[in-house]
Amino acid sequence: MHLKLQFHDSAAFAAPLLAVFAVDIATGDDATHSPALLTTSDPLAKAASPWLASGEFKATLGETLVLYSPAGAAAQRLLIIGLGRSASLTIHEVRKAAGVAVRFARSHALHDIAIAFPEDTALDDEHMDSLPSHLTARAIAEGAVVADFDIDFYRSDRKDQGIHNATVLHIEADKKSESEMQSGLDEGIIVGQSQNFVRSLVNEPGNILTPTELARRTAVMCSEVGVACEVFSTDKILELGMGAFAAVSQGSPQPPALIVLRYEPPTPPPPDAPVVGLVGKGITFDTGGISIKPAENMDKMKYDMAGAAAMIGAMRAIAQLKPAMRVLAVVCSCENMPDGMAFKPGDVLTAMSGKTIEIMNTDAEGRLVLADGLHYAKTLGATRLIDAATLTGAVSVALGQINAGLFSNNDETTQRFLDALPTSGEKFWRLPCTDDYRDQIKSQIADIMNTGGSRYGGSITAAMFLKEFVGDTPWIHLDIAGTAWLDDQKPWQSKGPSGIAVRSIIEWVRSFASPS
Ligand code: BES
Ligand code: ZN
Ligand code: ZN
Repeated sequence: MHLKLQFHDSAAFAAPLLAVFAVDIATGDDATHSPALLTTSDPLAKAASPWLASGEFKATLGETLVLYSPAGAAAQRLLIIGLGRSASLTIHEVRKAAGVAVRFARSHALHDIAIAFPEDTALDDEHMDSLPSHLTARAIAEGAVVADFDIDFYRSDRKDQGIHNATVLHIEADKKSESEMQSGLDEGIIVGQSQNFVRSLVNEPGNILTPTELARRTAVMCSEVGVACEVFSTDKILELGMGAFAAVSQGSPQPPALIVLRYEPPTPPPPDAPVVGLVGKGITFDTGGISIKPAENMDKMKYDMAGAAAMIGAMRAIAQLKPAMRVLAVVCSCENMPDGMAFKPGDVLTAMSGKTIEIMNTDAEGRLVLADGLHYAKTLGATRLIDAATLTGAVSVALGQINAGLFSNNDETTQRFLDALPTSGEKFWRLPCTDDYRDQIKSQIADIMNTGGSRYGGSITAAMFLKEFVGDTPWIHLDIAGTAWLDDQKPWQSKGPSGIAVRSIIEWVRSFASPS
């Protein structure tokens, strides 16, 4: 998709489809709907007005109405897209609605679209707060790019449904606002494309995306964006003493991949500046190992590397956004397979940190690879840590498929992450990770066990396990098991890999950048 911004009258712009946004300016619980277009273009307002007055379009979020050959407009079709109530409008609705425009065009085999930038000045101040133009442009780009992705890569009858040109139209503005919008759009393209890069990795089947292939694709991406990438395998993992990671990997003939990425800012930051370490769970297929999973839904376990993909995608965006700080990423990738050589329940492993772990269940493998990944990131110099992992089914029991779980040992770093969410539009909910839960992972014969003694609080005991390996370093753990895969499509996004966490991680990382 070639996405650009033009300062041009939207009614005069010729395109097969012009999308324009509408809000419902009604207030209160039982008021009748009162849709209004977010454009100052008189011809567009005039073309839409009888249909908005008819009551059949209510401007609810994602609702669409098409007008063919609209009088006074050069576009062949005018697609009116609802954003919901004006009083509660944020950039998230704009992001979704931009996605609706793209998915509508794709399903109608239209390859070129225009999107009218939402103009809050079309309404009186009392109806809505103004939308910041930089973030609005960014949200439009993110929504449009993320919507232009489907999962049918391996279908022989795959059609080219992609958008070739998407033009965001805004009436002429002053130079400062124009450059703010342009930089917002540019950032949104980087972030949206990075999210799609994550989704394309997560979508790959386990037979194709082995740990070696994940490392190869990561290295290709890194050479394109200018990030240093090193890939290691069994010898290095054993040499570093990563006994937990090595144990998970030993049941598969596929070699593991320890992937280390390093981003250096254009100007070296002061020596005491924070160094952020991103750590990802990269299990390219999780059978459960000797504690094997039931057959039902096991195919989904190809997405057990979504945490790793999120970190790799975040590095892709960071390399292009160039924040003034150092960032490194450690990805621990392997398969979890049952085999004569596989690790077993009852085994005792020694992690890189020296802690001993009694294995109660080989299906709790993610925390094992992360234990070594987190410790290794610290030895590489990370002073702030974040990990992302499809770690537990229990997180979906707790939070459903709407919020991902957030766990931390540090309130300040958590607050920074929560502050990034209004920009990223992603949902994370903090769950406890306090020492009251530590007894549940105590072992009789080793330092800790790899599962809690009971089923209760399964995502918390998993986080407690990880906490053993971060020490005092401020750390956040994101459990994305319930949110990394969408079972149903949305009007703005295909089903399948969601790309969750990448946008928030990017924002959180940028919050540590030295002031420029
Ligand atoms: N990869 C799974 C978690 C998972 C479940 C991800 C569903 C996505 C969807 C993880 O390795 C796992 O199997 N966890 C076990 C832990 C248990 C054995 C303590 C689980 O959640 O059942
Ligand atoms: Zn597992
Ligand atoms: Zn797993």
